[in-house]
Amino acid sequence: MPGAQARLATLSVMKILVTGGAGYIGSTTAKALEDAGHVPVILDSLLTGPHAFVRDRIFYEGDIGDRDLVSRIVDEHPDLDATVHMAARIVVPESVEKPYEYYRDNVAKSLELFDQLVGLGKPRLVFSSSGSLYALKDDASTDAGPPFEVREGDPLDPTSPYARTKQMIERVLEDMAAATDLRAIMLRYFNPIGSDPDLESGIYAKEPSHVLGQLVMASRGLTDGFTITGTDLPTRDGTGLRDYLHVWDLARAHVCAVERFDSVIADAGSPSVVINVGRGEGITVRELVEAFERVTGYAVPTTEAPPRPGDAVGAYANVDRAHELLGWRTELSLDDAIESALAWSERRLEVLGYR
Ligand SMILES: NC(=O)c1ccc[n+]([C@@H]2O[C@H](COP(=O)([O-])OP(=O)(O)OC[C@H]3O[C@@H](n4cnc5c(N)ncnc54)[C@H](O)[C@@H]3O)[C@@H](O)[C@H]2O)c1
Repeated sequence: MPGAQARLATLSVMKILVTGGAGYIGSTTAKALEDAGHVPVILDSLLTGPHAFVRDRIFYEGDIGDRDLVSRIVDEHPDLDATVHMAARIVVPESVEKPYEYYRDNVAKSLELFDQLVGLGKPRLVFSSSGSLYALKDDASTDAGPPFEVREGDPLDPTSPYARTKQMIERVLEDMAAATDLRAIMLRYFNPIGSDPDLESGIYAKEPSHVLGQLVMASRGLTDGFTITGTDLPTRDGTGLRDYLHVWDLARAHVCAVERFDSVIADAGSPSVVINVGRGEGITVRELVEAFERVTGYAVPTTEAPPRPGDAVGAYANVDRAHELLGWRTELSLDDAIESALAWSERRLEVLGYR
C-alpha cells in the first residue's frame, strides 16, 4: 500500500471506525482519538454499551455482521483511514453458558466485517485481543524469563470460550492478512481500570464483577467485604497477580496504532502483528487492596477464600514490542488509575442514571 502509506504520513486528521465504541474501552478510545485531533465514527449495537457513551459522536446503531450497514458507513465516510474493532461479547462465565452466541458474535460476525472492509478498500484493522490467551506459568521457578511475564511469542492456552474466540480471530486475521490486502495490528490488552480524564465513561455494569468495582462496593459498605480468592499461590504474597493499566493509557495505545499503522506493519515485517499492551508489571491482589486503601484512606474489610475453579495465578505483559513498534508507554500510575476509577464511581449516577 505505498500510495496509502504516503497519504497517511501527510494526514493530520484521521477518521477511524470504532466498532464497540459505546463500550467501556471503545468510548474511552473514541475520546482519546478526539483528544489527538481525529474523528471517531462509532458502530455499536448497544447490546451492552450505553447510549450515553455515544451521545455526542457520529454513531451508527447496528451489528458488525450487517454488511449493508458497513457498506453505508463507508459510503457516507469514504475518508475512513482505519477500523478499531472492539465490538464483542466479553463476559467469561456467560461464554461458558452461551458458547454459540459467543462464537457467532465474536468470530462469525467479525469474519463478515473483515471481508466487507477489505472488499470496500478499508484494509487497516486494529483488533482488541486479550492477555487472557497466554498459557499461564503456575510455577515461579521457570527459567523462561522473569516469572509470570508473558511475551507475544509465548505459548497460548485460552481457558474459556470467550478467550478462544479471541484466539480464533487472531488466526483469522493472520491468515486473511497473508492472503488479502487486510493488514492487522492485534493488541493483547491486560487489565484496564479507571476512566478518561473528564470522567465521561467508565465501567457501566450495574453490579461490577471487576475487582476494582468490588473494592469500591466493599469500601462503601455495600457488600459484606472484599474476598481474596486464592492465598496460597506461588506469587510473592500468595495471591493472584494481574497487570493493571489505566484505561486512558490503553486508549492512547490505539491512537499510536492508527497514527503509525503502516510503519508498524512495515517494521513488524509481516502483514499482521500481535502487540501486548499492559503496564509491564504484576500487581498482586493484596498489593491492589493496599493501593486502594492508600488512595482512599479507607480500610477495606477483607476475607480469604480458596481459589475459585478456573482462577489463575495470573501474568503480566512484556511491553518491549509496544515500546518499539507503537512508540507507546504507560504515563499513568496504578494510584492514578484507582483514583480515576473512584472518581468515575461518583460520576456514574450523573452519566448513566444509576450508581
Ligand atoms: N475490559 C477488559 O478488561 C478487556 C481485556 C481484554 C480485551 N478486551 C476486549 O476489548 C474490547 C472492548 O471491551 P470493553 O471492556 O470495552 O467491553 P464492552 O462490553 O464495554 O464493549 C463492547 C461493545 O461492543 C458492543 N457489541 C457487542 N456485540 C456487538 C455486535 N455484534 N455488533 C455491534 N456492537 C456490538 C456492545 O454493545 C459494547 O458496547 C472487547 O473486544 C474485549 O473483548 C477487554
